[in-house]
Amino acid sequence: MPPVDCPICHGTGFKIVVKDELSGAERCECQTKDRARLLEENAQIPPLYRNASLDNFLLPRDNPISYRDLQGVLVQVKTFARDFPTDKTPGLLLMGEPGSGKTHLAVAALRSIMARGFEGLFFDYQNLLDRIRSGYDQNSGAADKEAYRVAMEADVLLLDDLGAHRVTDWVEDTVTSIITYRCNNRKPLIATTNLIDPEAGNAQRNAGGKVDYRVTLEDRVGSRARSRLFEMCRVIRMPLVGDFRMRRSVPG
Ligand SMILES: Nc1ncnc2c1ncn2[C@@H]1O[C@H](COP(=O)(O)OP(=O)(O)O)[C@@H](O)[C@H]1O
Ligand SMILES: [Mg+2]
Ligand SMILES: [Zn+2]
Repeated sequence: MPPVDCPICHGTGFKIVVKDELSGAERCECQTKDRARLLEENAQIPPLYRNASLDNFLLPRDNPISYRDLQGVLVQVKTFARDFPTDKTPGLLLMGEPGSGKTHLAVAALRSIMARGFEGLFFDYQNLLDRIRSGYDQNSGAADKEAYRVAMEADVLLLDDLGAHRVTDWVEDTVTSIITYRCNNRKPLIATTNLIDPEAGNAQRNAGGKVDYRVTLEDRVGSRARSRLFEMCRVIRMPLVGDFRMRRSVPG
């Protein structure tokens, strides 16, 4: 509700603007500010990332190659956020080592999109599955069943640490249905994962006669969810920059 004491709109939520000698109604600032605050409150971004933004993402100062590569990533994420929403690839998938800044960038992109009025929702993958499962197992409170529906319907869903969970058929089906639903309905998804994938520049399994035993994205979420993800997302592979907490950095 617009505040009645707003000096601009006096509680109507609209203000009159004059452009090229024509006057029209526009949403008042008190409304857009309120909406931004509301969106931020509802997004469930964890406290660690409360301030993560595209402006405070730092670049490694002591390694020119890492600097250049990470700067490239930052530019891509900024472009994604700026051009959002786009039809062809409405989503973003950040892949790379732990500590390379994936969640920071994902949250920063989400926040920048929310600042333009879109509704965003952060979900830790493991936590989402736990909540959905507890909803089914105990046939319990509506709040838990909600998790599944909410993950389907949110304007923009951030699924953090995709695949960080042991594999069961149940997990595979649940993740596939969420991702497929979102993909079919062109609902944007931002995801991060530490898992590897041949299409993201990681070696093919069995490359050069050697078997790579590392767990892949496909191992964890199944082939259908994986191919849907690649279909709907711009894929960004994080450079090997090491763990942020171990390096010296400057503003990007
Ligand atoms: N380039 C960066 N600039 C500023 N903070 C960063 C950067 N990379 C990571 N961080 C911070 O370091 C911590 C770990 O990064 P995070 O994004 O969680 O890594 P990942 O998700 O890849 O494991 C977070 O607090 C994050 O805000
Ligand atoms: Mg992370
Ligand atoms: Zn107002």
